[in-house]
Amino acid sequence: MNLNFQHKRVLVRVDFNVPLEKGTFRITDDTRMRAALPTLRAILDGGGALILMSHLDRPLKKLKEDGTIDVQRFTLRHLIAHLSELLGRPVQFAENCLGEIAAEKAAALKSGEVLLLENTRFHKGEEKGDEVMAKQLASLGDIYVNDAFGTAHRAHASTTTIAKFFDKSHKTFGFLMQAEINNANKVLGNPERPLTAIIGGAKVSDKILVLERMLDLADSVIVGGGMAYTFWKAQGGNIGSSLCEDEKLDLAKTVLAKAEAKGVKIYLPIDSIAADRFDAEANTQTVASNAIPTGWMGLDIATQAIETFGEVIRNAQTILWNGPMGVFEMEKFANGTREVAQAVADATQAGAFSLVGGGDSVAAVNQMGLEDSISYVSTGGGAMLEFLEGKELPGIAAINA
Ligand code: 3PG
Ligand code: MG
Repeated sequence: MNLNFQHKRVLVRVDFNVPLEKGTFRITDDTRMRAALPTLRAILDGGGALILMSHLDRPLKKLKEDGTIDVQRFTLRHLIAHLSELLGRPVQFAENCLGEIAAEKAAALKSGEVLLLENTRFHKGEEKGDEVMAKQLASLGDIYVNDAFGTAHRAHASTTTIAKFFDKSHKTFGFLMQAEINNANKVLGNPERPLTAIIGGAKVSDKILVLERMLDLADSVIVGGGMAYTFWKAQGGNIGSSLCEDEKLDLAKTVLAKAEAKGVKIYLPIDSIAADRFDAEANTQTVASNAIPTGWMGLDIATQAIETFGEVIRNAQTILWNGPMGVFEMEKFANGTREVAQAVADATQAGAFSLVGGGDSVAAVNQMGLEDSISYVSTGGGAMLEFLEGKELPGIAAINA
């Protein structure tokens, strides 16, 4: 970010894809907005004017019945008041990120002023990474700053293609993007050992790449969430009607064999909270995860698993956590994820470095008020996962190009 912003119109791609309350459109979690503030303030303090671009949700995949965009639902207008409060100054709005409206408002901006553009995903060209759209967006500003880490895995017009239209001395990462990259590299680079990766979530197929990467990097890998049952079944366990990807059983066996060959210890949850149906009010019992009665399904890790996982986590020097241990959104099955959050926080207090990424694990940390007890909480779900898998993210590559 060491560019001269004085009297410059600075186009910043932020990820303001924040959750809104149904009906009222109230922002229910403004973490991503607050995370972009250091970059936005630095540009304003440096004498620049801000032109902010973001998407919100996936409006073209959620069209109204008549086939048109639900502008009322997906407009970035919902963010103006809060953004203005966060920045302590008025925020202007362009009701189209392209065309004359945007061009005129951008051209009239003075140092210290802020213009927010309407949802970039109202145009088909955004998700296609369209050059014409990217060029039009680029024409609005003198400098391009990408601070949208949460969207860095998308090769979209405003996140990636646009960077082509700025030379090296007119484009840069924002502070958030840089912090995400630096912190992820603390895990991937030369981590203090032992390195423990905690990988949860419903499906092996979503997490297989990061699991395989961790077999090369970590000393131990904790597997929780629905995906654990595919691993138990692969070893001949009875998992009742727990989630299972039958077509991934061989893959699970391969992962276990690879881990053994590499000397990486894999921890599966010894016991589970099983439910008689997938419901917040289901009846529950604690059972061995490889002996779940017919008709019952494992929806959370139970006492012994929590104890074992907790011990491994508290002994780690570097911790990566992505994905919940159970059906965190239902109170009865949220405990395992919370206990893991607590263990990660305890280890961090004792000196470990911890990185948490991904929707539910971050939600657990926030819900427990532990965000300040974790070394780094990522604003990226899919983006952080792909970064950890070892992929080059298009939004990052475009700035470096
Ligand atoms: C996210 O929340 O995952 C990012 O904002 C990217 O959005 P997307 O998954 O709809 O591309
Ligand atoms: Mg996503």
